[in-house]
Amino acid sequence: MPDSEEVLRQLRKAEHLAAVRGLGDRGPSPGFEDVALVPNCAPEVDWTEVSLETTLCGIRLPSPLIINAMTGGHPEAEAINRRLARVARRFGLAMAVGSQRAALGDPSVAPTYAVARREYPEGVLIANLGLNASVAEARAAIALIGAQILQIHWNVAQELFMAEGDRQFRGAMDALASICAEVPQPVIAKEVGQGIAGPEAWRFVQAGVRAIDVGGAGGTNFLAVEAWRRGESLDPEWERWGLPTVVTLSEVLATVDGAVDVIASGGVRTAHDVVKAMALGATAVGMAGPLLRLVSEPDGEARAEQFLAALHRDLQTLLVLTGSRNWQALRQRPVVVRGDTAAWLDARGFGAWRLRLARRHPPGA
Ligand SMILES: Cc1cc2nc3c(=O)[nH]c(=O)nc-3n(C[C@H](O)[C@H](O)[C@H](O)COP(=O)(O)O)c2cc1C
Repeated sequence: MPDSEEVLRQLRKAEHLAAVRGLGDRGPSPGFEDVALVPNCAPEVDWTEVSLETTLCGIRLPSPLIINAMTGGHPEAEAINRRLARVARRFGLAMAVGSQRAALGDPSVAPTYAVARREYPEGVLIANLGLNASVAEARAAIALIGAQILQIHWNVAQELFMAEGDRQFRGAMDALASICAEVPQPVIAKEVGQGIAGPEAWRFVQAGVRAIDVGGAGGTNFLAVEAWRRGESLDPEWERWGLPTVVTLSEVLATVDGAVDVIASGGVRTAHDVVKAMALGATAVGMAGPLLRLVSEPDGEARAEQFLAALHRDLQTLLVLTGSRNWQALRQRPVVVRGDTAAWLDARGFGAWRLRLARRHPPGA
């Protein structure tokens, strides 16, 4: 029998789905309009030779897109994870499940997560737990879905916006370091929509993570979601709280300087967003809210497949239009960062990194 805390957790998870469907994206712009790619009018690349392959934590993936952590732990979650896993399988996408804490407290909900492995036996699946998870919990979450990678999510702002949320954050970095040291699977540290600044990214590297998912502001906004659950709308200043995705992505990339993989997420919505993130230096990109909304429709799987087919076509087109056979070649092309994002990076001392991006040239030029 689940205890009352577990029942409340399950209710909260179901409310999150309803809120994300109703609210859409909230907050500042993720900042992709400040990033410009330089077109190549004479590409020495054929459409058919373009590769979208990337490598995350040493694992080869046919697409840079990850279905990011969303759900599990209540009855509706099983159908959603089933649909997401089927869609992921169709495109060979890596897929994360939502926080698995519910299954650790109530084994009867384990199938709402395990369905992802049943539907996608050969897939790259990513387990998910929150900060302060123990090594034993990390092992159990990984085993439950046969995950190749583990995400530990950092959601301090969301916790503070929940009446029932955590208030203890000291020691979370030590807990993460223990997991990284003792669990064989690679670990991703992940924000959920407020972003990660450079100094904290470096602390994650020191804790031993293999990748950082920047989880920037500009897409799903959990502060707005928590306000919605209370029947309130969010104060505009709180709605803008956090680092927009392109800002946090730039801070993290410039800080870790290749020491770990970096995943761009938070308001990544189009192929242009994906290509811009990859051109800046991301290894992969995560998307959550839009895929939830698509698979929630009655013909959800078909809709999500159409959306992803169009997105992958556009990725291929954009690589040709920048003269890039693959993501490595794209990263040789210059990228211009302007506007508020440029002003932020200059003010924070990341201006040299921004200028280096703008001066990159194709090999041999
Ligand atoms: C309904 C829903 C539930 C989520 N639950 C989790 C979670 O359990 N663990 C987690 O790390 N992130 C969770 N997230 C955050 C997403 O993984 C992602 O970081 C965030 O939504 C930003 O991406 P987006 O703008 O593409 O939605 C959830 C997102 C949604 C939409």
